[in-house]
Amino acid sequence: MLFSLLSSSLLLAATASALPAELESRATNQYLTNSHVAITELQTFYKQPSPAPWAGGWWNSANCLTLLADLRAKDSSSFLTSITDGANGVFKTTLNNQARDSTNALSYTDFFDDQLWWILALIKTSDVTKDTSFLQAANLTFAAVTLNNKASNNPCGGLANAYPSEKYLVKSSTIATVLYVAAAAQLATRYPAQKTYFLNKATTQWSWITKNILIDGIMQGDALTGSPPSCSNNHAFLTYIEGVALQALVALYHATNDASYLTTADTLATKLLSGKYGMMDSNKIALEFCDNENSCNPDLAQFKGIMMRGLRTLRDAKPDVAGGQIKGFLTKNADSIWNNDRQSGTNLLGEKWAGPFVLESGSAMQLSSHSSATMALVQAALANM
Ligand SMILES: *[C@@H]1O[C@H](CO)[C@@H](O)[C@H](O)[C@H]1NC(C)=O
Repeated sequence: MLFSLLSSSLLLAATASALPAELESRATNQYLTNSHVAITELQTFYKQPSPAPWAGGWWNSANCLTLLADLRAKDSSSFLTSITDGANGVFKTTLNNQARDSTNALSYTDFFDDQLWWILALIKTSDVTKDTSFLQAANLTFAAVTLNNKASNNPCGGLANAYPSEKYLVKSSTIATVLYVAAAAQLATRYPAQKTYFLNKATTQWSWITKNILIDGIMQGDALTGSPPSCSNNHAFLTYIEGVALQALVALYHATNDASYLTTADTLATKLLSGKYGMMDSNKIALEFCDNENSCNPDLAQFKGIMMRGLRTLRDAKPDVAGGQIKGFLTKNADSIWNNDRQSGTNLLGEKWAGPFVLESGSAMQLSSHSSATMALVQAALANM
């Protein structure tokens, strides 16, 4: 037994050394292998035709599309391309089944932030497929958000999360505003002829964030409430707000070449990874405030993967940020998810990444927990490719 194990590992080593460097690292990238297993499980939720094909909320589906596009950027395996590519693949089918308004913007809920999640998903999908129909849909949806999200509705500034008739309307929503910055800055680099237009939108809202939300170098508060001059901030810390802020800063850097955006992002990531703000446990495993009591809803359960995505995006732009800690953080969290927060048999991933795995009730909670954890595995895989 010992001998045969030894000889098979020698055989593997001999085979690996004969491979080109890229294939060799791929052969040993356990995070990629685990991502594939998690994506197989993710696809058990996928049902077309629907604007929200992974069920759960519409925005959760945008994040499922995003994680597949993230991985597809570096992974051309037949496993992944058979899911994502071609006329019947997930990318094209998901776009074709979107609900559209009279301007052809994606429109399925009353929420601007849902539209903005889709814009980011479509831009990423456009980047990896080189199919401009995704980018056009993103551009038209951005125009709809810009037209309908009226500054006069938001006396404390920023953007609202939803149309005024929506019962869950939050004026001056941090997440809607920071998503808008990320979307506008990303469109600025993809539409050079309209760069000034998009960049003005991005920098106007970013300056609202720097005045009101980016406090002591880290994003604080999910909204401003009240009215001027007494707009107030609850100083809440939510993992996805940090993640989208990192996306926004990297996009602003790419659009402007102004390295100060990366300095701001470096500070943010350093503070985040210090663990002082309640977004990770004492072992540096990511944590949402509701995880320990198992009281998250399907929105909250989606958040942590988005933080990991922001960190990985920042590291791609500048590998040595945050004292070079990001890769270790991504891999440690992916290890914990895989070893401690996975249902044996199904490979369904749970919400509390430190474990133990808890089967959430309802497919919406299961989908958002699983897709958030899968997004984290994908970011670890990408950091190792
Ligand atoms: C983006 O959409 C706007 C409509 O708001 C349109 O005027 C513009 O031409 C579009 N840009 C491109 C490059 O398609």
